[in-house]
Amino acid sequence: MSVTLIVGAQWGDEGKGKIVDLLSNDAEIVARYQGGANAGHTIVISGKQYILHLIPSGILNAGVKCVIGNGVVIDPAALMNEIQMLKDHGIDVTDRLFISHRAHLIMPYHKKLDEARENAGNAIGTTGRGIGPSYIDKSKRTGIRIVDLLDRKSFEEKLRANIKEHNELLTKIYGHSELDVEEIVETYLAFDKAIDPYVTDTTLLLNQAIQEGKNVIVEGAQGAMLDLDHGTYPFVTSSNPTSGGACTGLGIPPTAINDVIGIVKAYATRVGNGPFPTELDDDMGEYLRATGHEFGATTGRKRRCGWLDLFALKYSVMVNGINKIALTKLDVLDGLKEIKVCVGYKENGRNLKSLPADCKVLDNVELEYVTLKGWNTSLAGIREFDKLPQEVKDYITYIENYVGAKVTIASISPDRADTIIR
Ligand code: GDP
Ligand code: IMO
Ligand code: MG
Repeated sequence: MSVTLIVGAQWGDEGKGKIVDLLSNDAEIVARYQGGANAGHTIVISGKQYILHLIPSGILNAGVKCVIGNGVVIDPAALMNEIQMLKDHGIDVTDRLFISHRAHLIMPYHKKLDEARENAGNAIGTTGRGIGPSYIDKSKRTGIRIVDLLDRKSFEEKLRANIKEHNELLTKIYGHSELDVEEIVETYLAFDKAIDPYVTDTTLLLNQAIQEGKNVIVEGAQGAMLDLDHGTYPFVTSSNPTSGGACTGLGIPPTAINDVIGIVKAYATRVGNGPFPTELDDDMGEYLRATGHEFGATTGRKRRCGWLDLFALKYSVMVNGINKIALTKLDVLDGLKEIKVCVGYKENGRNLKSLPADCKVLDNVELEYVTLKGWNTSLAGIREFDKLPQEVKDYITYIENYVGAKVTIASISPDRADTIIR
């Protein structure tokens, strides 16, 4: 009976959805703590694929309760689409989905501003889902929360004031046309009814479950290198995907967390702009993209690909307190005779001790690589750790020794069934 926190250990898209789905089989609750519909978590069960953006990846296990915590920013339209998508697949979320009163809403003006800022130059390469502008309003203390939907009069007042302010920004700074106030007010007042059945005090729900010793899985979105504080700022998302974000984003104490499982892709990818030291702009990068089907689950964009960056991963293990690793997409490396891993960064010939804070430095670090032997054979069908080729075991041991955390899960295909538990 425990609380297991699952975090993306790299730049997102490590395979969190697959592992959360797998582990939620014997969980009572699965809870998301940050981000919004910028996430795209893919789950494949017997060849059938589901992509979730807001609803936790435990929803495909009947009987598991799913919580969207206070730290998440909710786009009601995206949420409704997802509930409908699940319904179309025969999955009813009634009495299984719980949404925090304290979660903030994403409004049409957040998405417009996101787009306008990106087009104005120095693009971050956002998902365009309004994430940054919504978290800005939250910090600015003008954001609109789920709880505000309960009081129509004050909701309408807050909404009108917000639209006015954002219309000023959109028209005067970004040269956009004004958004239609009445249309937004009408749409959002209608969401009230649709969301109401799911709204509850999720902080109490979770803490009671924890006190009763229930199994709780906490699901992160994005990854450590996209963390607002610890990632490659400013090329980051606007929330804290790292472990600390789980406590603030759900209202659970750090002392309640028993394990932190870092989801690690066997190589590295990044979608969007910003430093990516081990990026491969060559045939090998193309090979990884094609073999790993590295295209965004939310935007369909090409993911940038590169070798596994152990130097960055060690930093991520430290910041997150990762004690266990789920290593995914090992099968993508099946055809390689040699695999490289980055084991050090240098600046002007000097070894760096940890991840530099300055993006300009990160962009220009010299990399130290170690070449390991590939297994050059298919891993398909392997179900036991002992049956893995020696070269895979050696790759795993190298990672464990370098970062100081144990690989307890290995994944060899998108399907739930193709997972090796050690
Ligand atoms: P998430 O955002 O961390 O949940 O990851 P995404 O769903 O965005 O991206 C991971 C992609 O890799 C998805 O298409 C998964 O179906 C797929 N995937 C997950 N684990 C494996 C694996 O072990 N092998 C392969 N080939 N694909 C995997
Ligand atoms: P999951 O949960 C990978 C990236 C965007 C962009 C930056 C900021 O599927 O791993 P945002 O829209 O959040 O303001 O964009 O963060 N990004 C992700 N990259 N996986 C994700 O989520 C991401 N969510 C955001 O591409 O570089
Ligand atoms: Mg993803």
